[in-house]
Amino acid sequence: MKVDGVAYRSIWRDGNESAVTVVDQTLLPHRFETLRIETVTEAIDAIKRMVVRGAPLIGVTGAYGYAMALAADASDSNVAGAYDALYAARPTAVNLRWALDIVRAAVAGLPEAERAVVAFATADRLHAEDIRTNGTMAANGAALIREIWEAKGRSGPVNILTHCNTGWIACVDWGTALGVVYSAHDAGIPVHVFVDETRPRNQGASLTTWELGSHGVPHTLIADNAGGHLMQHGAVDICLVGADRVTASGDACNKIGTYLKALAAHDNHVPFYVVMPGSTIDWRVDDGVKEIEIEERASDEVTHISGISGDGTIVKVRLAPKGTKAANPAFDVTPARLLTGLVTERGVAKASREGLLGLYPERAS
Ligand code: MRU
Repeated sequence: MKVDGVAYRSIWRDGNESAVTVVDQTLLPHRFETLRIETVTEAIDAIKRMVVRGAPLIGVTGAYGYAMALAADASDSNVAGAYDALYAARPTAVNLRWALDIVRAAVAGLPEAERAVVAFATADRLHAEDIRTNGTMAANGAALIREIWEAKGRSGPVNILTHCNTGWIACVDWGTALGVVYSAHDAGIPVHVFVDETRPRNQGASLTTWELGSHGVPHTLIADNAGGHLMQHGAVDICLVGADRVTASGDACNKIGTYLKALAAHDNHVPFYVVMPGSTIDWRVDDGVKEIEIEERASDEVTHISGISGDGTIVKVRLAPKGTKAANPAFDVTPARLLTGLVTERGVAKASREGLLGLYPERAS
C-alpha cells in the first residue's frame, strides 16, 4: 500500500540481509517511521511492544525472527529454544505458532550450516504467500459487498462496521477485513466504514482511520459503544472483522469487544463475517471460549490513554485515579452461532466444522 505516494509493505527484507525492516506501529498515526530488526531478541521485543501487530504480521515477523536466531546459533538446542522464546511473545494469535512450525519443519534434519539460509527462504515464502492469500481473500469478500450493493439497488454506499485494525499493516499487505474494503472500493463499489475506536489500545482510532484515509476510503470513527445503536437504526449493512484464532468448529477469537458487536449484529439481523486466512484456523481447538488462551496486557493500557501533545511528543495521560485496579483481556471469543460466515482465501464458509472442512478437506481425518 502507498504512504505519501510510496509503496510500502509492513515488513520487508532487503536482498539477502539477515535482517528485516518494519513499519513502527507504535508511532502511528502521528509519525511514519520504520525500524530495523536484526536479532531474535529485537523481533520478540517488536512483537511484545506491538511495533508489529495483527495475527498474520506477527506470524511472518516470528518466522524472520526464527531465521535470525538460527543465523546466530543453528544448534539443535537453539532450534528448540528460539521456537519457545518466540512462541511466548504473544499467546493468542495462532499464526505465530503456524509460522514457527513451518520454519522448524523446513530446517529439521538439515546440517547446521544450512539451517539459517533455509529458514530465511521459508520466511520469504510466507511473506509472499501472505500477500497472495490476502489478495484472494479480499476478492472473495468483495463479492459479498457487491451483493449488498446490488440488493440496495446500487443506491448509497455499503456501510461496513469494523473493529480493531485488520489492514495492510496488520498483515504483510492488503489486510483481512480491510483488504475486503479496499478490494470493493478499488472495484468502484461505494463503501463507507464505521471504525470502532477499539479501546484500550485504540487500533481503530489510530491505525484503521490512518489506513483508510491514506487510501481515500470514506469512514467515520465511532466510540466502541456506538455500534449497537447504529445497527438498531439501520445504519450498518454488514460487519467485517478479522481473527487471531478460529477454532475447528468456527468460533472466532478476535480483539476484545468483537463479541459484543456480534451480539448486537445478531439481535439486529446485520450480517457478521470474519475474514481470515487458513493460517488463522487452529485445528487443535474446538471450543474457543474454554480452550483459547487470552492475552492479559498491562493495566496501564486501560487506566491511561496515549496521544500526541502540541509539541509533537507522544504522551500517555492518566484517565483513572492513581491506584485503580484494571483488567485488560486483549481478546474475546465470538461463538460460531453468532457468525454469518467466514471469508477465507478458499471462499466463504459457514462458521462450523462442516463449513471449514468443505474448504479445507485435507484437514478431515
Ligand atoms: O492486539 P492486536 O492489535 O495485534 O490485535 C489485532 C486484531 O485483533 C486483528 O483483528 C487480528 O489480528 C486479525 S486481522 C489482521
